[in-house]
Amino acid sequence: MKKDLLTFADWSKAELLSLLELAQQTKQNPSAYRKALDGKAVAALFEKPSLRTRVSFDIGINKLGGHMVYLDSQAGKLAGREDARDMGGNLACWADAIVARVYSHHTLVQMAEASKVPVINALCDLYHPCQALADFLTIKEVLGEVESCRLAYIGDGNNVSNSLLLVGAILGADVRVITPVGHEVKQEILEQAAALAQISGGKISASHDLSAADGCQFLYTDTWLSMGDTTPLAEIKDKFQPYQLNKTLMDSCGASYAMHCQPAHRDLEITSDLIDGECSLLLQQAENRMHAQNAILISLLG
Ligand code: CP
Ligand code: NVA
Repeated sequence: MKKDLLTFADWSKAELLSLLELAQQTKQNPSAYRKALDGKAVAALFEKPSLRTRVSFDIGINKLGGHMVYLDSQAGKLAGREDARDMGGNLACWADAIVARVYSHHTLVQMAEASKVPVINALCDLYHPCQALADFLTIKEVLGEVESCRLAYIGDGNNVSNSLLLVGAILGADVRVITPVGHEVKQEILEQAAALAQISGGKISASHDLSAADGCQFLYTDTWLSMGDTTPLAEIKDKFQPYQLNKTLMDSCGASYAMHCQPAHRDLEITSDLIDGECSLLLQQAENRMHAQNAILISLLG
């Protein structure tokens, strides 16, 4: 039976730990994996722009001996041309996996139902699982393991916060989400993460209060306005400004590392000095996108 990666919520701790292990192996010993996807083709369908996800999948698949076909649904005029189920069913006729970045999670669910090959979520409105796996790979490289991780996500309750909560909860980490009022993580996601944390011994929490980040080694933020959100920045800026990731906040929490999935908006959600400073994990996170995704591809297709 094929397995999809839509959210990670249906993957076990053992499965995620073995993905992290495999990602580290592919990173340390790339020559051993040069034929891991020999003869395999991946169709990558993007409804939204991407730098990191698109390039890290394409180059990563190439390094494993496979081939990726990139489909830009907007420029290629594929958007709205046919039902997501028909796209999924057809792409699966030729491809060994489908990677898709979409507006609505429902599109991925429909594609996965119609596709006989694995569908991998490359970001949707609700989740960004490949990002979260790369982030916990980065944390594992820093700490040597993931269970002692205390991470505070500060900013908009969005796809990135949701996946950090779910993946962190499965892995047994302590993940705290701190948002302005009106930008909270959805209750269902918090409940789902809390249930997963109970199984793993992890901890999750949600708050509006920045002091909830005290004692975290990692402070993480993301854009205040996600792709597709047309709210004018001026409308939300004052509300988000106190949640900016900056040196004062890092010092007051005693945090050692700053994280951001990127694209980052310098001196809005995170200050330039943190992005470029010693505490920055941003480029390590970006590099690890490829290794984490390669592990996912090998495990689903290899
Ligand atoms: N972090 C991330 O997914 O970046 P892109 O939007 O550039 O792919
Ligand atoms: N939350 C952001 C993540 C970008 C990688 C967005 O959806 O635009």
